[in-house]
Amino acid sequence: MSKDTLTIVDNRTGKSYEVPITHGTIKAIDLRKIKVDAEDFGLMSYDPAFTNTASCQSKVSFIDGDKGILRYRGYPIEELAERSTYLETAYLVLFGELPSKKQLEQWTFNITHHTMLHENVKKFIDGFHHDAHPMGMLVSTVAALSTFYPDAKNITDKNCRLLQTYRLIGKMPTLAAFAYRHSVGTPYAYPDNDLSYTGNFLNMLFKMTEIRYKPDPVLERALDVLFILHADHEQNCSANAMRSVGSSHVDPYSAIAAATAALYGPLHGGANEAVLRMLKQIGDIKNVPSFVKSVKEGHGRLMGFGHRVYKNYDPRAKIIKTLADQVFEVTGRNPLLDIALELEKIALSDDYFISRKLYPNVDFYSGLIYQAMGFPVDMFPVLFAIPRTSGWLAQWAEMLEDPEQKIARPRQVYLGHDVRGYVPLVERKA
Ligand code: ACO
Repeated sequence: MSKDTLTIVDNRTGKSYEVPITHGTIKAIDLRKIKVDAEDFGLMSYDPAFTNTASCQSKVSFIDGDKGILRYRGYPIEELAERSTYLETAYLVLFGELPSKKQLEQWTFNITHHTMLHENVKKFIDGFHHDAHPMGMLVSTVAALSTFYPDAKNITDKNCRLLQTYRLIGKMPTLAAFAYRHSVGTPYAYPDNDLSYTGNFLNMLFKMTEIRYKPDPVLERALDVLFILHADHEQNCSANAMRSVGSSHVDPYSAIAAATAALYGPLHGGANEAVLRMLKQIGDIKNVPSFVKSVKEGHGRLMGFGHRVYKNYDPRAKIIKTLADQVFEVTGRNPLLDIALELEKIALSDDYFISRKLYPNVDFYSGLIYQAMGFPVDMFPVLFAIPRTSGWLAQWAEMLEDPEQKIARPRQVYLGHDVRGYVPLVERKA
């Protein structure tokens, strides 16, 4: 009869061990009983970059990378992108169920009424250099919010956590918009509570002298869909940063700052910015084949291609590609689109990319839409951080409520020197 266990034979000792298998995993700690002798620390697993290690149990997002599936709380991303709104999806991601009409109204009201920033935050933003990267400003200002809300340290109190959740989801767009306006030198525009989440964000970004800003409904909805697509993505680099930093029981503003910093990198949320720079560098369709050739020869990467878990077309990229057409009808076609399409066509028919299962990811087309909507490339990772805040907070709450979780503290394989005596400066060789 089959058993849900794994039998391991240690060839160093000839001993055999039986380890339980649960949900397709073995517990790494079960390996510790495998020892050469009583002095031995015990066997560890070695997994740099967590390529085959589950760091938690989660019920938030499901990804099947081979089939190109992404679901939030069981709902396919395609359905949510078509039928939901960002705030409704954020509620789903955070609380596990779609809200009732009343719950959604209450939730929307609470988020909308936490969009204002303390006036001192403006002074803080004023201190940045005019060409400061908005992502750097966002990382710093969201961390600074922890000093405005010291109550947030009370992370074991569910109501307190909920209040910080309203504040963070409400204030991230305001921080982002203020960072943008600082970089372009226009006065900060305050939130307009009569607008939708993305409508208000566009208002805070682009309002000029008009009394009331009216967002274009197509662009407002497109941004909302992009926000839905970016709400969560299970244990990616920034979610892992959120959980890892949050596991020290720091306040959520500090943990979100860490997650935002993780997202900043070009291998993660900074990739959409890198895609645009790459497309500009290619400059013309005729240069695409030589660019692909240079990537294959090891000179850089095709940004916006490849993913740690998707070994198929990223389902979000498919939705974004369709969305791009709707946006371009309003904004006019982004001239870089033709280069992107050609790049995709060549890469998807090339054995280098096929054999490595490298397909366009979410970042490949999102940057083109953002640029057409009038965002400078520097703002792209910021546009990722805003909606991902709900996912980070959901991952954080799940981590705090999981009795199996402790402070994140990986082991290492030490390969450095054995003990040696201190050598005084005068005796050291050059
Ligand atoms: N262009 C060219 N070759 C690539 C690319 C790429 N974009 N991505 C991976 N490869 C190659 C690697 O060189 C490697 O080839 P090799 O086996 O001959 O050495 C192979 O494919 C496997 O690559 P890894 O780096 O092992 O894959 P990993 O899962 O660690 O990396 C990552 C995933 C970081 C996303 C990678 O594909 C990449 O750098 N892509 C470009 C950046 C990007 O678009 N990031 C956004 C990811 S989506 C997100 O975070 C929202």
